[in-house]
Amino acid sequence: MDPIRNPYAPGAGQRPPELAGRDEQLDAFDIVLERVARGRPERSLLLVGLRGVGKTVLLNALRSAAVRAGWGTGKVEARPDQSLRRPLVGALHQAVRELGQSGGGQDQVLGVLKAFGQAGAASGARGRGRDRWHPGIAAPAAVGRADSGDIEIDLVELLSDLGGYAADTGRGIAVFIDEMQDVGVDDVSALCAAIHEIGQAGLPLIVVGAGLPHLPTVLSAAKSYSERLFRYARIDRLDAAAMEVALVAPAAEEGATWEREALAAMYAVTGGYPYFVQAYGKAVWDRAPRSPITAEDVAVAAPEAEAELAVGFFGSRFERATPAERDYLRAMADVAAGVLTGPADGATGAADESVATADVARALGKRPQSLSPARDALLKKGLIYSTQRGRIAFTVPHFGTYLRDHT
Ligand SMILES: Nc1ncnc2c1ncn2[C@@H]1O[C@H](COP(=O)(O)OP(=O)(O)OP(=O)(O)O)[C@@H](O)[C@H]1O
Ligand SMILES: [Mg+2]
Repeated sequence: MDPIRNPYAPGAGQRPPELAGRDEQLDAFDIVLERVARGRPERSLLLVGLRGVGKTVLLNALRSAAVRAGWGTGKVEARPDQSLRRPLVGALHQAVRELGQSGGGQDQVLGVLKAFGQAGAASGARGRGRDRWHPGIAAPAAVGRADSGDIEIDLVELLSDLGGYAADTGRGIAVFIDEMQDVGVDDVSALCAAIHEIGQAGLPLIVVGAGLPHLPTVLSAAKSYSERLFRYARIDRLDAAAMEVALVAPAAEEGATWEREALAAMYAVTGGYPYFVQAYGKAVWDRAPRSPITAEDVAVAAPEAEAELAVGFFGSRFERATPAERDYLRAMADVAAGVLTGPADGATGAADESVATADVARALGKRPQSLSPARDALLKKGLIYSTQRGRIAFTVPHFGTYLRDHT
C-alpha cells in the first residue's frame, strides 16, 4: 500500500499514531495533577520498563496533560557521567516561562535558578565555565540561595522556591526526567531530598521520571527512604487488545483494515512490544498489495522488519559491547534459552527472562569473579540489569533471540 500514507512510526521517542493501552496511567496522572494542585499529598511518579516499551512517549504524553492543566513543565534527558545541574536549569526555566505571570515574583525565582546554574560552574570548572554558560535568564543571579555548590542543599532550596512560586500562581510545576537510571548518585540523592522536602511542605511541584527496570534500585541505593517518595508504574508490552488498537486505529484513518488472522500473526511476531509493533506494522503496510491486510502479508514482510531491527534496534546496541562483553551477552542468551537452567523461576514472573550470573559463568567455563568487569560494564551501558541478587536480564526485549540468530 502507499508508503507515503504509512501511519506507523518506529523510532526512539517517536510519537505513535495511536497511544494504545496507556489509559490507566493517563487517567491516574490527571488525578495526581489535581491532588497536587490542591496541596494533597502525592508521591512522584516513575515509569519503569524495558527498552522500546514506550516510556518516553508516555512521559511526553503526561507532559502534555500537565500543560493542558495549565502547569509549567520542563524535561531533561539524563546522560551517564553528566551533572544534572545545567540541564535542570534549562528545564525549570521552561517551566517558569510556561507558568507565565511576569513580574517581581518571577524575576526573583529566575534569579535563584540562575544562581543555581552558576554555582555548578564555580565548583566544577573553577569558574571558567561561568563565562561560557548562557542560560538566557535576564534576571540578576540571586545571592545566598541555591548557590552553595553542594547539589543537595542547592536543589532543596531551588525546588522549594519554585514550588512556592507555582503555589502563588495557583498552578503547579512538573519536571520530567527521562533515562533517569543514568542520573549520578549525588544528583539522585539531592533529587530525593528535594522531593521529600517539597512533599512535606505540600508544594505543587512533582518529578516524573522514566527509566530502565533497575531504577528503583538506583534510587534506594542513594536514599533509603526513596521507596516512599515514588510510585512506580511498570510500563510493559501491550496485551493483544491494545496491540490491535495500536495497529487498527491508524489504519482506519487511512481507510485500511487488518484481517483477524493478520493481527494474530502480528502479536505472535511482536510479542506486543510497542517498538516491534511499529516496526512490523510499517514493513507490513509497505508490502501489503491492498486492504485488508492479511496474515500472508505479515509473513512476507516479517523478514524485512526483522532485518531492519537487527541493524537498528539490536545491532546498534550489540556494537557498543567489547569482545569480552559480547561473549558474556551470548552466554546469557544461551542460558536464557534453557541450555543450562531448569524451568523458569517463579519468583521473577513469567515475562522476566532473567538468568543466574553463576550459570552464565558456568556456560563460559570461568570463575564468576573474573567476569565481574564485563558484567559491570554491561550494567553501566544499560544493556543488562540486575533483577535480584545474583540474577540478570537483558534490558532489550528479544535480545537473546537476536543474539542466538544473528551473532
Ligand atoms: N502505547 C503505545 N502504542 C503504540 N505504539 C507505541 C506505544 N508506546 C510506544 N510506542 C512506539 O514504540 C516505540 C518506542 O517508544 P519509546 O521510544 O517511547 O520507548 P522507550 O521505552 O522510551 O524506549 P527506550 O528505553 O529505548 O528509550 C516508538 O516507535 C513508539 O511510537
Ligand atoms: Mg526512551
